[in-house]
Amino acid sequence: MSDPIRVRLTGVGGYLPRDVVTNDDLARKFGIETSDEWIRTRTGIGQRHIASGDETTASMAAEAARQALDYAGVDASQVDAVLVATATPDQVFPAVAVQVQACLGMTAGFGFDISAACSGFVYALATATALMQSGQANKVLVIGSEVFSRLLDWTDRSTCVLFGDGAGAVLLETGAGEGEGVLSTHLHSDGRTGDILYVDGAAGCPSTSQHLRMQGREVFRHAVVKLSQAVDEALEANGLTGQDIQWMVPHQANLRIIEGMAKKLALPADRVVVTVDRHANTSAASIPLALNEAVRDGRVRKGDLVLMEALGGGLTWGSALIRM
Ligand code: UT7
Repeated sequence: MSDPIRVRLTGVGGYLPRDVVTNDDLARKFGIETSDEWIRTRTGIGQRHIASGDETTASMAAEAARQALDYAGVDASQVDAVLVATATPDQVFPAVAVQVQACLGMTAGFGFDISAACSGFVYALATATALMQSGQANKVLVIGSEVFSRLLDWTDRSTCVLFGDGAGAVLLETGAGEGEGVLSTHLHSDGRTGDILYVDGAAGCPSTSQHLRMQGREVFRHAVVKLSQAVDEALEANGLTGQDIQWMVPHQANLRIIEGMAKKLALPADRVVVTVDRHANTSAASIPLALNEAVRDGRVRKGDLVLMEALGGGLTWGSALIRM
């Protein structure tokens, strides 16, 4: 019997918009009735990057992808598929993924977008892994790219202070050894909770407003329970405990949620990759951006066991375990 196809992570990349907006900027320059103290205490956020007109979901995704390819030493022409997780595509179609293909000069392979809000990267990782395990692709770019600043109601202080823009990417390749690479992914969604975190208006209809709406406390409550379940599921599926995890690279919505999950796993703070303080919540981009940072600064190393978890609008949620 032939060996099962195993998927390894060989490249990481990220892009953050040039403009940085601090909490104080929001209060002073943007005139929002808020304070650095409120935002930091409730969320851990200190600043966020906001995209300018020339920084689009596709351009940021392409830059993050270029970096991931460079890291892995792979040429774009060798890539079989591009998957982009985004809730903020530049257009209804073409998909961001095919725009990325064009930016990278790819004339073969395929690309499509995945819509699972803040859980999008975990969904895209799971989808890419399944495509690869079924023999349909050997090298896949998995990207999370978002310009949430364009979805925010800047008069709603309960949401507009929470998000930022950016893109993160990984390159996946077949050929991992036993016990290496993507060990498992676990996806969930429950549409009954769609009304606690959503975008109003109709997609592609310019006459209706399109703004993110969130019942923050309700989402927080679901996040604590559902992320905990998704983490338990990942550990159980692999016969592991929290002690086996070297790094948690979580979705970056709120430092209090991240700390709660670390406590549950008995992980010390220096084993948790945190970017929410500088990036705020970049939705589907938050996990690959955090991973990119931690791999490039030498924290996450080959052989380390990395746990990812995310929850977002839908609600959608999930987890993934990767041996780097
Ligand atoms: O990525 C998708 C997943 N998203 C999440 O996981 C987000 C989960 N939720 C949260 O992170 C938190 O619920 C928030 C950070 C959104 C809010 O924190 P909270 O402790 O739940 O605060 P709250 O919404 O209950 O608001 C408390 C108070 C309210 O005032 P009153 O009614 O108590 O007088 C708000 O009006 O804080 C007020 N408030 C603000 N004050 C200053 C709300 N936003 C602001 C603000 N600045 N920006």
